[in-house]
Amino acid sequence: MPYKLVVLAGDGTGPEVMREGMKVLQAAQDAYGLSFDLIPYPCGGQYYLENGEEWPAEAFASCKSADAILLGAVGHPDARLPNGDLAGAGVIFGLRFGLDLYANVRPVKLYPGVRHKIHDEFKQVWRPDLVDFVVVRENTEGLYTPARGTLSRGGTDELAVDSRIITRKGAERVVRFAFELATRRGGAPKDRKHRVTCVDKSNVTAGDRLFRAVYDEIAAKYPQVERDYAYIDAFTQWIIRSPEFYDVAVAPNEFGDIATDLAAVLQGGMGIAAGGNIGDAHAMFEPIHGSAPKHAGQDKVNPIAMILAVQMMLDWLGDRKKDRQLLEAAKVVETSVASVLREGKTVTYDLGGTAKCSEVGTQVAKLVARR
Ligand code: IPM
Ligand code: MG
Repeated sequence: MPYKLVVLAGDGTGPEVMREGMKVLQAAQDAYGLSFDLIPYPCGGQYYLENGEEWPAEAFASCKSADAILLGAVGHPDARLPNGDLAGAGVIFGLRFGLDLYANVRPVKLYPGVRHKIHDEFKQVWRPDLVDFVVVRENTEGLYTPARGTLSRGGTDELAVDSRIITRKGAERVVRFAFELATRRGGAPKDRKHRVTCVDKSNVTAGDRLFRAVYDEIAAKYPQVERDYAYIDAFTQWIIRSPEFYDVAVAPNEFGDIATDLAAVLQGGMGIAAGGNIGDAHAMFEPIHGSAPKHAGQDKVNPIAMILAVQMMLDWLGDRKKDRQLLEAAKVVETSVASVLREGKTVTYDLGGTAKCSEVGTQVAKLVARR
């Protein structure tokens, strides 16, 4: 039986990077005798402008019955819903909330050869052996809870409110997910200790105090994992100063959103950063960059984040289905990406190279085919 995979390429550069992700997936299928039934749907802001809906009516049900979902990117500069929301975001939130994908797993790993770009130059190389942690972002509540609104009087928006909801259930399951993940990893680069950092603002907000209290309850069940605490503001400087200390960090929704864009710099930028939106029954994988409309259609953006999203999908599905071929394929996709990055010849502009998006995909696929 083939695995059913829904493919949502989306807007802007989404379809370009998805094409490369599919190239690599095809190579993995051929090399490992895997079989995926690909079910593509158009979606996003552009689709909304043309069709008056963010995705086809049947797409959600199809995602619900799929083994896994891949998303490219959504967002078009001119596409807004009547209430002002970004058109296309309904696809992301439709999946995160609709399929209860409560853990947003975002690895922050620096591969050898990748140069960072803090001063908009490609001068320094950070030590790859010092950057290898995972942020687990809560994905179904916090500031993203749809309990918000605007008070408009006489046509003037006078007040806007967003409610930041933290629940025991929401905190418990994502913290447990983080601890389980930590037990399966090799520990922090600094000392190889298993460690889960609770990232919050419990010095100020009630929601974060609940989040931290729940963290403590769960942590007590994992004596082999070290406890660690960081307020979100301090966390942002510590991950830059001492990334090697971190193994797994768990954070409420909006803190995880912000921290992972920052953390992407540690791994070479948004062109490398991938994430998995994972629940108990479903999962969706995506690059964490957006649709980058100004770069669209030029075959220039970095497809590695999308390719690593495919890799995470293979790994998650392999684990879930106890399918060793999938797990092997996931490994070889990662080593192929690593070897393209280490060589540094076929990399895109954001990494200081001149390769096109499609050339990077072809090169990774070639290495996967060779195994
Ligand atoms: C992310 C993105 C989304 C979010 C946007 C596109 C709605 O920034 O996945 O990190 O805020 O969650
Ligand atoms: Mg974000």
